[in-house]
Amino acid sequence: MICLICARSGSKGLPNKNIKKIDGKTLLAITIQLAKEVKEIKKVIVSTDSKTYARIAKNEGATVPFIRPKFLALDHTNEWDVWKHAIKHTEKILNFEDVIVLPVVSPLRTKNDIIKIIKEYKKNKKKAVVTITESSNNPFYNMVFLDKNKNIKKLKYKKKLFRRQEAPKFFDVRTVGYMLHKNTIKQKKNIFDCNLSYIKIPKARALDIDDKYDFMISKILYEKTKKEKTINFKNKYILITGSAGFIGSSLASHFFNQGANLILTDKIKKPEKLKKILNKNKVNYIYCDLNSISSIKNLQKIIIKSVPRLDVIIHNASSTGDDNIKGWADNFKNQLTEHWDKVFQVSLKANFEINKSFVKLLKKSKNPSIINIASIYGFMAPDWKIYKGDNIKNPAGYGVSKAGLIYMTKWLAKILGPKIRVNSISPGGLIRNQSNRFIKKYVEKVPLSRMANEQDVVNSVIFLASDMSNYITGQNIVVDGGISL
Ligand SMILES: NC(=O)c1ccc[n+]([C@@H]2O[C@H](COP(=O)([O-])OP(=O)(O)OC[C@H]3O[C@@H](n4cnc5c(N)ncnc54)[C@H](O)[C@@H]3O)[C@@H](O)[C@H]2O)c1
Repeated sequence: MICLICARSGSKGLPNKNIKKIDGKTLLAITIQLAKEVKEIKKVIVSTDSKTYARIAKNEGATVPFIRPKFLALDHTNEWDVWKHAIKHTEKILNFEDVIVLPVVSPLRTKNDIIKIIKEYKKNKKKAVVTITESSNNPFYNMVFLDKNKNIKKLKYKKKLFRRQEAPKFFDVRTVGYMLHKNTIKQKKNIFDCNLSYIKIPKARALDIDDKYDFMISKILYEKTKKEKTINFKNKYILITGSAGFIGSSLASHFFNQGANLILTDKIKKPEKLKKILNKNKVNYIYCDLNSISSIKNLQKIIIKSVPRLDVIIHNASSTGDDNIKGWADNFKNQLTEHWDKVFQVSLKANFEINKSFVKLLKKSKNPSIINIASIYGFMAPDWKIYKGDNIKNPAGYGVSKAGLIYMTKWLAKILGPKIRVNSISPGGLIRNQSNRFIKKYVEKVPLSRMANEQDVVNSVIFLASDMSNYITGQNIVVDGGISL
């Protein structure tokens, strides 16, 4: 099966319509790219009279077997003749039977629309397929015509119509796509000369671009749909460690509201901060102490058994400076490195093991993303002046573990590419219940004049978890208001 895309250069209504850009891509490129996503389509053929269009088409991976003669690229040229010409010339270089024609002026069609057209074609023993949309106007109800004497007239229906619903339904034939056999194109005179079958397409995806207003509406709808698709976590499987903490619970609540399937874990048996979403459909809370090998194994087992794939893993659990253990967040001389093993176990070793065991599940996702929550103290040393007079601590083992995490992010990004992306986020200090004195001293150092909050971290996680960051891996995104500059 081939896909035929016809794009002439001299459109009058909207000059150079076929190479006008939506979301940074020409309409021609949008159509070729979509056609190339459909596995049934073996070759995308572009028929154009323009060398510029031909170059754009080839750059997108389409085949341009000929430059269309000018007489087939005029305002009054019959599109059917253009198809005939394209078939004749493509037959010289390719063996094919079936043709799906995708006009460039219908950028809101989806891959699924094309697949439906192909299915309908196969199901109906190769009748030609057209796409139709219910018309908002009806010749028997809300349309009029002017007769010979320029009098306004309404078409009469056999019975009196009081409501629009009583009139027979009318449909507009749209340019979402046509599918037919090459011999049908050769033998018939136009599409209505064929034995027809149809696919109904909702109005929102069936707009043909004819003038500048159609173009403006298509642009708005295209960009809106793309945005919705790019940052869409509905039904995504997202694992969050340390989910019972401040940042973890904020992440959980955001992704819960977005309709994701959540696998939440923490070493807290009754996670207060998750109260609102626990026991809700789509939320699975699994107790796990990342310091215990058997607890990690149990987590791995449950997840492998219960989810079909993993789209995002957020490694957020960590020992922090607030942990009240003797010899941890203490003065330099009293800091005990024996605590470091546990800290490294949670931040690094558990993280590594979890990733290892879930590679298969991650690879089942369309765009899997691993996100490590590190810290600015993974790459910069604390300024002790701001801590003076406060009981806030910044133990060496914390920063060392985060530095290791930033390194491990790069290591994993290289080994897990091209399928799985791995990035880290390094937040600056979050505002909690620190003293005013500490906050004032901290904020004086921040170009954006405030401490971070949970939403700042959530926003950067959304970016890294979504398709917006498709070309980003191995990076450490610093979310610190500029304090580390
Ligand atoms: N708060 C900040 O200012 C700040 C700044 C930069 C980075 N971070 C990082 O953000 C992440 C979240 O921090 P937070 O501020 O929400 O702290 P938090 O203490 O509220 O959350 C950390 C969570 O990790 C869990 N955890 C710790 N050890 C665990 C273990 N052995 N097994 C399972 N779970 C364990 C805790 O129970 C807790 O729920 C951490 O990685 C932290 O290092 C925080």
